[in-house]
Amino acid sequence: MGAAGTAVLLSTKANAMADWAAALREVDPTLAIRFFPEAGDPAEIEAAVVWTSHDMAELRRYPNLRLIVSMGAGVDHLLRPPGPPPGIPVARLVDLRLTQAMTEWVLLNVLRFHRQDPEYRAQQAARVWEELAAPDTAQRRIGILGLGALGGAAARALLALGFPVMGWSRRPKSLEGVECHHGAAGLTAMLKRSDILVCLLPLTPETRGILGREALAALPRGAFVINGARGGHADDAALLAALESGQVAGAALDVFEPEPLPAEHPYWGHPRVFVTPHAASITIPRSAAPQVVENIHRARQGRPLINLVDFAAGY
Ligand SMILES: NC(=O)c1ccc[n+]([C@@H]2O[C@H](COP(=O)([O-])OP(=O)(O)OC[C@H]3O[C@@H](n4cnc5c(N)ncnc54)[C@H](OP(=O)(O)O)[C@@H]3O)[C@@H](O)[C@H]2O)c1
Repeated sequence: MGAAGTAVLLSTKANAMADWAAALREVDPTLAIRFFPEAGDPAEIEAAVVWTSHDMAELRRYPNLRLIVSMGAGVDHLLRPPGPPPGIPVARLVDLRLTQAMTEWVLLNVLRFHRQDPEYRAQQAARVWEELAAPDTAQRRIGILGLGALGGAAARALLALGFPVMGWSRRPKSLEGVECHHGAAGLTAMLKRSDILVCLLPLTPETRGILGREALAALPRGAFVINGARGGHADDAALLAALESGQVAGAALDVFEPEPLPAEHPYWGHPRVFVTPHAASITIPRSAAPQVVENIHRARQGRPLINLVDFAAGY
């Protein structure tokens, strides 16, 4: 039997539990870890390290809970009603490996569209030897929705490849080499010139449905859309209609609502849609564990936490 508020509740997919426990123990071998749903005495739980699907109502059972840590970068699931227990801070992950993986996925898809890969694959299938007009990197303008940990890193990588990069955030921001926009007016200004639009926003009431009819119509004709953020950002009917009309020439989508993407969904078989199963950037426990343990220690000592979620902003 442990003392009150001295154990960490771990809750994730069954196949990830052991990796997470090992990664946390590697950083702090003294951690007492409980594997949900075997929480033991609820009074012992000081911190809950949870996958995004964990039921927030369940966390109200632990009277000495001081901290909730999300095992991902996004916290939209955790903030949905009923939300975390009142007064308990939530930290999310800002992790180099997570960021690198998303940057790779964005580059993969930007380059896929920029270098006419769908067209060349179609030509290969038909055994057609035909050179298409040369793509000009300096003329292919990229607009990134969200200039946070993931959007900022993608912006830097795309800049390094020579693309003109614009970005959009909630508050004014300055990123070297990036044309930064914010707020409603800034959004329209950026969309109008985004030949490739990349969404890396958190899902909040303000950003839900942002890839909708109006935004898609504002893009230059034949633009490409890349969504690595959340399925709820896209209005699927509007995106399919824009693909149908040629307003949008192609889309790369990693996230959907609902997930898994239903077998009968038109995205699966669409010749100009590239689907990945929410796999753009998957948390690697060993990479993420140091900041999680750091926050557990800080919460114990009453020190300021890192990577805290701003409940008012919703991310
Ligand atoms: N597909 C995957 O595998 C995967 C993996 C990890 C994460 N994700 C998704 O990626 C999202 C972004 O992650 P992150 O770590 O980059 O988040 P972050 O660091 O919090 O950055 C969020 C960015 O979005 C901006 N933003 C938020 N609300 C806005 C609004 N209403 N209008 C304009 N801009 C707004 C923020 O503006 P400010 O700069 O002004 O705050 C910030 O620039 C996550 O929330 C998650 O949903 C997906």
